[in-house]
Amino acid sequence: MTQDEQKRAAAEAAIKHVPIGCIIGVGTGSTANYFIDELAKIKHKINGAVASSDATAKRLKSHGIEVIDLNNVDDLPVYVDGADEITEHLHMIKGGGGALTREKIVAAVAKKFICITDETKLVNILGNFPLPIEVIPMARSYVAREITLLGGQPALRQNFITDNGNIILDVHNLQILNPVELETKLNQITGIVTNGLFARRAADILLLGTVEGVKTMS
Ligand code: 5RP
Repeated sequence: MTQDEQKRAAAEAAIKHVPIGCIIGVGTGSTANYFIDELAKIKHKINGAVASSDATAKRLKSHGIEVIDLNNVDDLPVYVDGADEITEHLHMIKGGGGALTREKIVAAVAKKFICITDETKLVNILGNFPLPIEVIPMARSYVAREITLLGGQPALRQNFITDNGNIILDVHNLQILNPVELETKLNQITGIVTNGLFARRAADILLLGTVEGVKTMS
């Protein structure tokens, strides 16, 4: 299986985890897009979806799936999304597509986070993929200095503004041995809206597309 076929297979496998008659949280990115295409096939069995980005909302609507404001949702049993890196402990780096803030909010509300990736995303140590951090524009230089003190090398993502009107710093050269600790430290830096470490709220299940088929990790 190619990388794209692995993503599609993981997305297909996630459909089995979608409860009937519920609202589903939907992530952002190429793997999440495969999931949306699969979700469209069973759209009559769900009550709508909460989108983690404008792009996902647009794709859901194009398939005729109702997009519901998270503020009007009491119960979100499942959130399905991809990741840029994930460990066997199901800690993740996310935000390659720049949607990390809304992704983290929807993941916080959801009872179960189902991560869908191809096998290239499974790593022993997080940090080879630059860690995305969403920052209020006026805090850019201050946050960059604070991140440098933590040992990272921040780079401004060029020509990119998030759905929330903010910038992204992609942080290079981090070997993230303790993701929960680093996520907690980054949460305390004023001016950071969200960091792309999803460790305090890790995934519950990983559906990993591999050359041999989809493996389930939990
Ligand atoms: C977007 C994300 C995506 O889940 C992540 O970038 C993976 O994307 P893809 O499925 O295209 O590899 O966090 O903000």
